[in-house]
Amino acid sequence: MENRAQWGTRAGFILAAVGSAIGLGNIWRFPAVAYENGGGAFFIPYLFALLTAGIPLLIMEFTIGHKYRGSAPLSFFRMSRKTEWIGWWGVLVAFVISTYYAVIIGWAISYSVFSFNLSWGDDTEGFLFSDYLQLSVNPGETGSLVPGVLIPLLIVWVITLGVLFKGVKKGIETANKIFIPTLVVLFMIIVIRALTLPGAAQGLQAFFEPNFSAIMDSSVWVAAYGQIFFSLSIAFAIMITYSSYLPKKSDITNNAFIAGFSNSGFELLAGIGVFAALGFMASQSGVPVNEVVSGGVGLAFVVFPQIINEFPALNGLFGFLFFLSLVLAGLSSLISISETYVAGISEKFGISRTKAVAFGGGTAAVISLLFATQGGLFFLDAADYFINQFGVAFVGLVEVVVIAWFLRKLNDFQSHANEISDIRLGTWWKVSLGLITPLVLGYMMFDLFKTNLA
Ligand code: PHE
Ligand code: NA
Repeated sequence: MENRAQWGTRAGFILAAVGSAIGLGNIWRFPAVAYENGGGAFFIPYLFALLTAGIPLLIMEFTIGHKYRGSAPLSFFRMSRKTEWIGWWGVLVAFVISTYYAVIIGWAISYSVFSFNLSWGDDTEGFLFSDYLQLSVNPGETGSLVPGVLIPLLIVWVITLGVLFKGVKKGIETANKIFIPTLVVLFMIIVIRALTLPGAAQGLQAFFEPNFSAIMDSSVWVAAYGQIFFSLSIAFAIMITYSSYLPKKSDITNNAFIAGFSNSGFELLAGIGVFAALGFMASQSGVPVNEVVSGGVGLAFVVFPQIINEFPALNGLFGFLFFLSLVLAGLSSLISISETYVAGISEKFGISRTKAVAFGGGTAAVISLLFATQGGLFFLDAADYFINQFGVAFVGLVEVVVIAWFLRKLNDFQSHANEISDIRLGTWWKVSLGLITPLVLGYMMFDLFKTNLA
């Protein structure tokens, strides 16, 4: 315990936490979720969720890691012998996510190369599904590996596991110190270019136009909480693991605010960039913006290539920059998810980091091959659906209820965080975690089971 690895600098920790948070969720999930859930009016439930669940939970997870100085399972074990399983549950969710998150980063690597010649042609959808992914519903073929997807996937794992081998300071911290500033600069360039394209204003108008009646709809609030959880990487055991490497004297609360607001800032920037680009696309093709809106795989790998095709100049360069940002945002998140199980395994079985990376990372890499097959996209959709429905918010709910209601740890954690911080935790923090978050998440789960059983 005395030899526990530590971050070299405060900025190193913050960049790593922000690197985990900023990911595909900011770039392709947030813009579409906001648009579909009230546009400009979505910011009301979104900010509410950020301030009553996102940041309070981030503070709580940072406190847990900092106080108990262990990966998620060990920290939960030290909190109470009976709760180690909560840590493992988060680790399991993280493990599953890592297997398919890696594949998508691999696609982004391929597409950054395709950008140079705009290899995707005019039919970007056909290119993605038939030429690149070689998707097949024929049972005899669904299991065959697609070399074009496999090779970038292996590159992703070599980078990720290479970084983890090097350890917390030399590996994770150094990687994030390079990736995150680069990502922010690249993304700024892309957003500024998008904003100066014809039609950008219509795109932004579509994005920000508030539909205030949406706030009366409970599903919009559910969407806001879901986005905040996924986007801040909370309830995945990640933030507990990262904060377990903090030096004793660390301002937890302040760090959580910085990480939370940076992630949301980037998310807003992505929303502006994506919708400016969609506005441009709409103006080029003469269809209204709402007909070109999409999110997820379709946005990044079908619609964006079309937008890049239409660029007035330097198409290849902007395509490259866009996909490179996806790669950087994705890698820094994948590193954090994988560190979760590497740390968990290494502590549980008392094995070295090297062995834990080889064993844990190696297993994840092998499982991820499933998504590099001709049936890969179907498996990927299924895994993603399952995780989003039953993983994220569920672990979050259990975590908060056990800590706030059963173990009654909030007062204890509050004084721990307040020991070294210029922001003092008080009623806001305790009411958010003890009351608001459990009630909202509980309602979400109730709603989910109702719709799934009906
Ligand atoms: N927070 C990341 C994003 O917004 C996603 C993520 C999920 C990262 C799980 C790590 C673990 O894309
Ligand atoms: Na995020």
